Amino acid sequence: MNLISYRLLVLLASILLIPGTVLIAAETDAPGDEVVDWYDPEADEATPVEIDSTDTIEAGDAEHAFMKANPCEGMEKGDYLGSDVCADCHQDKIENMQSSPHGQAVDPRTPFGREGCETCHGPGMLHFETEGNCIISLTGRYGESVEQRNGICLECHQSGKRMHWPGSTHEAEDLACVDCHSIHKRHDVTERTAQTEVCYTCHQNIRAQTLRVSRHPIRENKVICSDCHNPHGSTGPASLKQFTINENCYSCHAEKRGPFLWEHQPASEDCTLCHNVHGSNHQALLNKPGPQLCQQCHSSQSGSQGRSHIGRFLDYGNASDPGVNRFVVATNCANCHSRVHGSNHPSGRALQR
Ligand code: HEC
Ligand code: HEC
Ligand code: HEC
Ligand code: HEC
Ligand code: HEC
Ligand code: HEC
Ligand code: HEC
Ligand code: HEC
Ligand code: HEC
Ligand code: HEC
Repeated sequence: MNLISYRLLVLLASILLIPGTVLIAAETDAPGDEVVDWYDPEADEATPVEIDSTDTIEAGDAEHAFMKANPCEGMEKGDYLGSDVCADCHQDKIENMQSSPHGQAVDPRTPFGREGCETCHGPGMLHFETEGNCIISLTGRYGESVEQRNGICLECHQSGKRMHWPGSTHEAEDLACVDCHSIHKRHDVTERTAQTEVCYTCHQNIRAQTLRVSRHPIRENKVICSDCHNPHGSTGPASLKQFTINENCYSCHAEKRGPFLWEHQPASEDCTLCHNVHGSNHQALLNKPGPQLCQQCHSSQSGSQGRSHIGRFLDYGNASDPGVNRFVVATNCANCHSRVHGSNHPSGRALQR
């Protein structure tokens, strides 16, 4: 069925079925701005109205009475108009949809392989009749709940990476898919260069950490949030893509996995006992400087032979004692215990080699 005969059908249907004022989009040859006919069945005449197709507010001059709950009963049971009709007033949306994965009409899995625009926005008949009201807004403009809106997307995207969406932190915080995704704009949270900015709209504290002196190269987009996190939820801690924090680190820092002849217990247990993954003001993303890092766990209180030097660190009062001086000069435990992640040397028990 071609476009013109389709519109004639819509026109006929409107006149026959719907009392009241009806807006009918007419075919014109005018380039740029389009002319639509306002058709009033009672007066039985049509007035041409010029509309700017890029400006939906001017288009049809609609006023929105419904800023809260959408009271358009029967909306979902109305007829589908087809995307060509939507294009009369929302031309810009059609254009960028064509280059989007959702706009591939040959693929029956996509919205355009189904009811087009109305796969997501619902049947448009009542929208057409009410001059711009009565449509499902995916941003919740008419009071649509987050569940209702997410449900539309999840109908096609429930599996795969969204497997753990139910129960995820973002779901529990009532995030909508469209808090992160935009369907009609090109730059999306799925683009490596655009993603972090989207996350920072809510995670300002993480942005602050990436501005510290030592950090993962997140600012340069070499490592981005979704390299480590699945924002749709996961079975790991902090929505990590891996089951544990260490598995996450090993996925890029494989050499730290070991196995080591001499393990350092905290390194095998949880890298973040020493490292701040998003950024830190101490070298190598460490969460404490120099000896304090190690002294969090190693204190001199245990008092045994080899360990007594631990407490002498920064004990400058005793700096004249050569036995103490040796450690003060070295200033950092890791200068001697350089194999802090584990050692494979036969005599590397003290993680020195
Ligand atoms: C005759 C012109 C016209 C046609 C045809 C039309 N619309 Fe609209 N549409 C409007 C106007 C006017 C508005 C209100 C714009 C505003 O207030 O921002 C609007 C608003 C919308 C909104 C905005 C809701 C929001 O989130 O802000 C959506 C979605 C929408 N239309 C979808 C569609 C779809 C899908 C079709 C095809 C089934 C369609 N429109 C056909 C005129 C039209
Ligand atoms: C009718 C089914 C359907 C609906 C409804 C749907 N999508 Fe899709 N979506 C698809 C298909 C099919 C693809 C292409 C997937 C592929 O190529 O593997 C896709 C791709 C995507 C992509 C990947 C885009 C890219 O650039 O790679 C995102 C993100 C996405 N959809 C989000 C959404 C969101 C958000 C919603 C709800 C507003 C939604 N989808 C509704 C079917 C749908
Ligand atoms: C907190 C932000 C955020 C929210 C909320 C979110 N997403 Fe995503 N989504 C992303 C990011 C980041 C990517 C790209 C990285 C990736 O694939 O994990 C993505 C990728 C996708 C993709 C394409 C990649 C793929 O899996 O094929 C689809 C489809 C998708 N999301 C659907 C959804 C749906 C449906 C919802 C709502 C239930 C949703 N998203 C909610 C951030 C989000
Ligand atoms: C995959 C689902 C999906 C499809 C298909 C879709 N939309 Fe949307 N639409 C959305 C979402 C989500 C939003 C919220 C804003 C955004 O993501 O860009 C939206 C917002 C809108 C808006 C209001 C916001 C604005 O920027 O003015 C209009 C109007 C609109 N869509 C019209 C259309 C038309 C016309 C089509 C067909 C060409 C269409 N949509 C196809 C999901 C969809
Ligand atoms: C609309 C706001 C919003 C956006 C956008 C957003 N988040 Fe969140 N996110 C939250 C809230 C709220 C929480 C829960 C409180 C907290 O931990 O800060 C959260 C928690 C998290 C957590 C902790 C999860 C857990 O299971 O403990 C991670 C990781 C996360 N977000 C990553 C991301 C990433 C990556 C993006 C961008 C793709 C993103 N967020 C975008 C609001 C948002
Ligand atoms: C190199 C991997 C990696 C990258 C990249 C990364 N994260 Fe994380 N993130 C983690 C790990 C590991 C944790 C859990 C340990 C922790 O809390 O420090 C975490 C925890 C979080 C948390 C919850 C705890 C908190 O600090 O509030 C949020 C929110 C978060 N990340 C958001 C983000 C955002 C947003 C981005 C992108 C700007 C991002 N992350 C990039 C690995 C990463
Ligand atoms: C997606 C890959 C990836 C993951 C996952 C990852 N890293 Fe990194 N890490 C990098 C890259 C890239 C660099 C920068 C390397 C460079 O600049 O040469 C880096 C650098 C570092 C540095 C050195 C920083 C410096 O200033 O010397 C530390 C420490 C580090 N990562 C710790 C971790 C920890 C701990 C985890 C797990 C919580 C982790 N990384 C997970 C990719 C990753
Ligand atoms: C006991 C504290 C501690 C733990 C736990 C720890 N690290 Fe480190 N890490 C350090 C110290 C100290 C340095 C700096 C070493 C230096 O300056 O020579 C460092 C440096 C690094 C570096 C950069 C230099 C290099 O050796 O490549 C990476 C990457 C790194 N750690 C990854 C990890 C990973 C992955 C884990 C978890 C398996 C981990 N760290 C656990 C203390 C620790
Ligand atoms: C989160 C706690 C923690 C931190 C931080 C920590 N360690 Fe350890 N370290 C341990 C535990 C637990 C062991 C194994 C039990 C033991 O022997 O005390 C250990 C063992 C060692 C050993 C071997 C001792 C032995 O008896 O086998 C050395 C050497 C060592 N750590 C040095 C360091 C250095 C240097 C740092 C700082 C870069 C550091 N540790 C930071 C918890 C920690
Ligand atoms: C000047 C080099 C040097 C510095 C600096 C140093 N150590 Fe040691 N450490 C040693 C030597 C040597 C031993 C004894 C090794 C042995 O017994 O084989 C030792 C032993 C240890 C042991 C016990 C290992 C065992 O065999 O029981 C621990 C734990 C330890 N050091 C932690 C630290 C901590 C924590 C720091 C920083 C506060 C530190 N060391 C700074 C040289 C150093």
